[in-house]
Amino acid sequence: MTTKLTTGALGGERIRAAHLRGRITTAEHAASLIAPGSNIGMSGFTGSGHPKAVPLALADIINARHAAGEAFKVNIWSGASTAPELDGALAKADAIDVRLPYQSDPAARQRINSGAINYIDMHLSHVAQHAWFGFFGKLHYAVIEVTGIREDGSLIPSTAVGNNKTWLDVADKVILEVNHAQDLRLEGMHDIYYGTAIPPQRKPIPMTAPHDRIGQPHLRCDPGKIIAIVETNLPDRHTEFAAPDATSRAIAGHMLEFLAHEVKLGRLPDNLLPLQSGVGNVANAVMAELENSKLHNLTAYTEVLQDGMLRLLKSGHLLSASASAISLSEEALADFLADMDFYRQRIILRPQEISNHPEVVRRLGLIAMNSMIEADIYGNVNSTHINGTSIMNGIGGSGDFARNAYLNFFMTPSTAKAGSISCIVPMVSHVDHTEHDVQVIVTEHGLADLRGLSPKQRAAIIIRNCAHPKFRPALQDYFARALRTSPGKHTPHLMDEAFSFMGDWQAQHAPVPLRRPDAA
Ligand code: COA
Repeated sequence: MTTKLTTGALGGERIRAAHLRGRITTAEHAASLIAPGSNIGMSGFTGSGHPKAVPLALADIINARHAAGEAFKVNIWSGASTAPELDGALAKADAIDVRLPYQSDPAARQRINSGAINYIDMHLSHVAQHAWFGFFGKLHYAVIEVTGIREDGSLIPSTAVGNNKTWLDVADKVILEVNHAQDLRLEGMHDIYYGTAIPPQRKPIPMTAPHDRIGQPHLRCDPGKIIAIVETNLPDRHTEFAAPDATSRAIAGHMLEFLAHEVKLGRLPDNLLPLQSGVGNVANAVMAELENSKLHNLTAYTEVLQDGMLRLLKSGHLLSASASAISLSEEALADFLADMDFYRQRIILRPQEISNHPEVVRRLGLIAMNSMIEADIYGNVNSTHINGTSIMNGIGGSGDFARNAYLNFFMTPSTAKAGSISCIVPMVSHVDHTEHDVQVIVTEHGLADLRGLSPKQRAAIIIRNCAHPKFRPALQDYFARALRTSPGKHTPHLMDEAFSFMGDWQAQHAPVPLRRPDAA
């Protein structure tokens, strides 16, 4: 692996602070300043705005140290997921001890699931405040990508804000990557709020509409902390989306029909309430369907802006979008750059502690739409684990939004693994969103509105409306027998069977049913 992409040969013109020019160096030199065992706060959110040269150089150094028989690991904190040149390279170098708060990299996932990486999967809105509270210990280094450095030393953020404000404020030392591939017209799109404090000094966050600007366009950074500045010219990771298929279009159709009904009942205004849309293909497909709807003057208050929302802005369905990052396919990025002046007036990028803040989410009354891995018949949702023990990505912002939204949806195709496994199960193998938080469950077969229902009422409607017809009889049989024989009739379960309901796929891959320790 080579890191010779950055050698300081980019001219330094984006480092307009003359007093900082002397700190321009190579990625190799900057990485060599990082000590084993360090806590490192990296920029980056959903494949955007992450440092692209220093982590690769650090992986090279660590590989060399390991080859020489030396131990060398670091702890990586970020905004959210990054890219192969950060999570991938460091995971493959066996360089990561602790990783937080979210990842989606295949190499990192494999090492988390093999037990080599200690992964702290946490709500994205909690990260900055837990760093301020000192819950994670000291942050030794911040490695932050920026678009440029202004004359006064303030920083022009790039395509993701994430936790950058916090990392720059709390870190002992700062390494900056100034990326010439990031468009300078990003300047002014950001809104960095410096009004957060720790209890008991907290004040209300002064935001009452999703497009409110409450902060400043630039990041501040104590110049005395900056130990290296590395120039790069490297693109973000492009997130390619599958074209919406019949399943995702059906899911979107049920949701739009439901929203129209809520408007008719007077429970939502004509232009709905601010939309939050989660990660993945289904979420992107729902946005695509909104484009074919009669809905207009919509707004978005979300954490990541993907292709679907960009198209809604273009088509005029969406008036404005607030997020923490922009994560686009190559095609959507080309459109974004071509029409930057149009998008600049409509997009605001904020720190994730604000984009995901429970206080703001509750006040604005969001409509939260997130994908899941599976739901159970009582409405508990698993967003993170496969078969209860292996992580897929992480909870991300889904809990921040769902728990505090005006209305939340959790969506999934009714089956996974080519139809062999039901995504509606008697008892989820891992709980991320409890029955107390989940409001509406949607699959291609239908929608279950759980609001105001008891557990038994929920079970009947989830099985009837959301389960695949192939798995419906087995679920109905389970529920009927649980109703008859469960000792408690509030949330009836057959505890020995609940965990082994995984269809053919489970039988093939993990044929030994999970049991309670006392049930052998
Ligand atoms: N059992 C076993 N595997 C399952 C499954 C189930 N019930 N449901 C899905 N999977 C597997 C799929 O087969 C696929 O595996 P593969 O990569 O080996 O093919 C993988 O999980 C992802 O599923 P996919 O259908 O591609 O879904 P997606 O791209 O829409 O992502 C989540 C779905 C839940 C993984 C994703 O949305 C996520 O990570 N969510 C948590 C974070 C979040 O909600 N953030 C929102 C705030 S922005």
